[in-house]
Amino acid sequence: MTQTWWSGGTISRRGLLVTGAFAAGTALTTGPATGSAGGLAAPAAARPRATVLRARPTTVGLGRRRVRTWTYNGELPGPMISASTGDVIRAPLINNLPEATTVHWHGIQIAHRMDGAPGYSQEATRPGGTFDYVFRVPIPGTYFYHSHVGTQADRGLYGPLVVQDPREPLSYDEEYVVVLDDWLDGILGTPDDVLRRLNASTDHDDTLRSDVLGGVTAEVRHPLYLVNGRPPETPETFTGRPGRRVRFRVINAAADTAFRVALGGHRMTVTHADGCGVQPVTVDTFLVGMGERYDFLVRLKDGVFPLVAMAEGKRARAFALVRTARGRAPRQDIRVPQLDGRRLAYRDLKARTRPDLPRPERTVTVTLGMRPSGNEWTMNGKLAGDPYRLRVERGETLRVVLDNQSPMWHPMHLHGHTFQVRVPGGGGPHKDTVNVKPRERVEFDVQAANPGEWMFHCHNLYHQEQGMMGTFGYGRPPGRRPMHH
Ligand code: C2O
Ligand code: CU
Repeated sequence: MTQTWWSGGTISRRGLLVTGAFAAGTALTTGPATGSAGGLAAPAAARPRATVLRARPTTVGLGRRRVRTWTYNGELPGPMISASTGDVIRAPLINNLPEATTVHWHGIQIAHRMDGAPGYSQEATRPGGTFDYVFRVPIPGTYFYHSHVGTQADRGLYGPLVVQDPREPLSYDEEYVVVLDDWLDGILGTPDDVLRRLNASTDHDDTLRSDVLGGVTAEVRHPLYLVNGRPPETPETFTGRPGRRVRFRVINAAADTAFRVALGGHRMTVTHADGCGVQPVTVDTFLVGMGERYDFLVRLKDGVFPLVAMAEGKRARAFALVRTARGRAPRQDIRVPQLDGRRLAYRDLKARTRPDLPRPERTVTVTLGMRPSGNEWTMNGKLAGDPYRLRVERGETLRVVLDNQSPMWHPMHLHGHTFQVRVPGGGGPHKDTVNVKPRERVEFDVQAANPGEWMFHCHNLYHQEQGMMGTFGYGRPPGRRPMHH
């Protein structure tokens, strides 16, 4: 297939439209995501306004259901925050929750004190309190933000963050932001209730847990899967025109679900992984783990197409529509042959926008393990309360071997940095989250260039809360132990 996405480095994105739930880069709007394709113009390089994030209990509609949950500004997902490379984002948090909270800016190479990591970069903000998040966004890409306290991120406390590149080399007409989530809050109790039940259960046949299928395993049975806060029965609808080139930005904000994503009737050209550019690769489907993001380009055909995200190992799906013509929408259970087509693998990804890291001087192995209870997840044998600490020295490059000796897969995420995943032939993608399948080893190189004591953990929220949280720290350990919630 000929590559026609390149515009030769000129600014080609006048008239760029952001459609769907995030049309306006809304700062202070309230009410649930509408899912209407408003097509309001969002100037790519607009100066970001302050986006107030008011964390508060809310009732949201999910199809036929109404559930009590916690959101930012009453919206699900939280407001779209958009900026341009190098901008300063200001996002004052107002905590109207009954618990302390923080906001973490996932994937941003941020100044440490703005990282929203409770016990590491700040004390969590108490009920009634505020915290003024102000930070520069040095690298363009697709990111998101979420609460980093306890299981709060498995409520509605997350939202997209997109940093536009003023010198964007890709050429496209519109972009659609696709935020995926698994949902249980207000249906199976709260995420805290579910965590308590998981902690009390002793084997993997508990009714809370899902089946183990293929290489990717799933644990918690979430009753709903959402695209931009909408379940399949009232699907998010992206409208466009046939022949238009669209950039999809897919964000997996789920707690416990990897999604296999495909667009019926189309192949997808993947251009970014975790916000960083990769050599374009055309596939039918890709797997996106919790905390990962993929961007892909598509030239829209004429019709109404299902955008599906299969909840891997769970026999359920998130579902949205891409509409370029009138006509009947496909049913939510429609078969999408692309799901069984060519699937993206990490070895297909080659860095495009960032240089290779220097050769590492040393190698550290981090073993991902499970205690016999089945309820505790370890990094080199340690749990979050007395965390494994990967010590680095400022400026060094090191190789990290993630050796998964547990029967579950783990999307491992490092705060404050990107790392370069090792793939055959070299030149692997720069990412901040990487899936490690059961019994698999994944290697990455990382340069220690952002001092601080950073979280390094599994982005399965339940694994994180069951111990799989370490630190990536510069020099001698800080005087006091990180605190945990
Ligand atoms: Cu998105 Cu420490 O997490
Ligand atoms: Cu895990």
